[in-house]
Amino acid sequence: MTLRREENVWIPESDLEGMSVDTLAVRSGQIRTGELEHSDPIFPTSSFVYGSAAQAAARFGGDEPGNIYSRFTNPTVQAFEGRMAAMEGGERAVATASGMAAILSTCMALLKSGDHVVCSRGVFGTTNVLFQKYMAKFGVETSFVSLTDMDEWTRAVRPETRMLFIETPSNPLCEVADMAALAKLARAHDALFVVDNCFCTPVLQRPLEHGADIVIHSATKYLDGQGRCVGGVVVGPNNLMEEVYGFLRSAGPTMSPFNAWVFHKGLETLPIRMRAHCDNALQLALWLEQQPAVDQVFYAGLESHPQHELARKQQSGFGGVLSFRLTGGRAEAWRFIDATRMISITANLGDVKTTITHPATTTHGRLSDEDKDAAGITENLVRISVGIEAVEDLKTDLARGFQALQNPSKGNV
Ligand SMILES: Cc1ncc(COP(=O)(O)O)c(C=O)c1O
Repeated sequence: MTLRREENVWIPESDLEGMSVDTLAVRSGQIRTGELEHSDPIFPTSSFVYGSAAQAAARFGGDEPGNIYSRFTNPTVQAFEGRMAAMEGGERAVATASGMAAILSTCMALLKSGDHVVCSRGVFGTTNVLFQKYMAKFGVETSFVSLTDMDEWTRAVRPETRMLFIETPSNPLCEVADMAALAKLARAHDALFVVDNCFCTPVLQRPLEHGADIVIHSATKYLDGQGRCVGGVVVGPNNLMEEVYGFLRSAGPTMSPFNAWVFHKGLETLPIRMRAHCDNALQLALWLEQQPAVDQVFYAGLESHPQHELARKQQSGFGGVLSFRLTGGRAEAWRFIDATRMISITANLGDVKTTITHPATTTHGRLSDEDKDAAGITENLVRISVGIEAVEDLKTDLARGFQALQNPSKGNV
C-alpha cells in the first residue's frame, strides 16, 4: 500500500504493477503522512489511540481496520512487509524479530504434532538445531537429506510429511537446489515447500516463481546490508500468512519499528548492492581457484560448480557468499583467518563489509561431528561473505592469509 499523493488515504499498489524489482525496492510499500515527508517516517510507538471506546472495540474485534498495538500492527513494520511482498512477488509478508523467528513462526503456525519435515542438510546450523532439538520436542520429526539428491528427497517423504525446507544456495557450501523439482514433490504429497532465500534475496531469485509456497529471510543479512539490525520476514499467500501473523500476534516474536525502518531503507539500495557483491565474489572465486593452498572453491558462479547451469537458470546472479577448503585442517584455517587485517572476522554475512568465518567452530559449531561431516562442514573450510570494497584490496588482504600459511612463524605479525 502506498499513500496517494493528493489524498491522505492508503491505496493499492496497482500503480507499480509489472515494474522491475529495482523499482519495487525503492517505491513499493511507501508510506507518507500528512507532513508529506519524502523519506519514509518511523512510528516508534507501542500502542495507538482510538476516537472512542466503540472504535477501540471495533478495531480489536476486527470490524474496523487500523492500528492497535505494535506487537501486531505498526505502520513502519507494514511498510517493510509491503515492500518485501512486492519484491518477492507474494501476496503478503509478515516481519519477525529475527530470521530464526521467521522460521519458528512458520513452523509453529503451519505444523502440528505428528507432522514430518524434510530439510536439507545444507542449512544454517541453528536452523538444523531448531528442527532437530526444539521442533522435535513438540512432536514434529525432521529428516535431513542432501540438498541436491532428488532420490533422497523422494525416499524421505512420508504420508505425514507436511513441509520441505531448503536454503538455496546453501550456507556455507553454495549448493543449488532444483526448486521446480522440489515444488513438484511437495505438491504431490500435499506438503508446503519453504525456501530460505537469504543468500540470493529477491533481486537474484524469486522462489515463489519456481513453485515455492513460502519464502523466508533473515533480514539481518543483505536486506539490511550494513550489519545494523536483526530481523526476519516470511512471504507467501494470504491464507498461509494469516496463520503466521496469528502466531506472531499471540506469541510476540515481532519486528520493532526501528528495525523495520532500517530494513525498509536498506532495501532501497539492495539491487545495486547485490550486483556489486556478485561482481566481487565471482572475481574472488576465480582468484582463489588459482591459489596453491586452496583445495576447492564453492561458488555457483564458477563453471566448475556442479550446479552452475541450474544456478544460471534459477538466479540472475550468483550471490556474494563463497567458501573454500584450504590444504590442512583447523590450524591452517584459523591461521589464514587471523592473518587478514581489513576483512572482519565475524559470522554475519550480507554486509557491505567483507566478513570471514570458520563455519565448523562458529555458524555450524553446535552440530555434532557426524552432522558436520554429512553437511560437508570440514575443519579446513573458510567462508567469505564478499563485500563491496575494491576487489584488489580484498585480494591484498587475503594474500596475507596465504603468506601466513607459507611462513607460519610470521603468521600474525
Ligand atoms: C541462511 C540463513 N537463514 C537464517 C538465518 C538466521 O537469521 P537470524 O540470525 O536473523 O536469526 C541465518 C543466519 O545467519 C542464515 O544464514
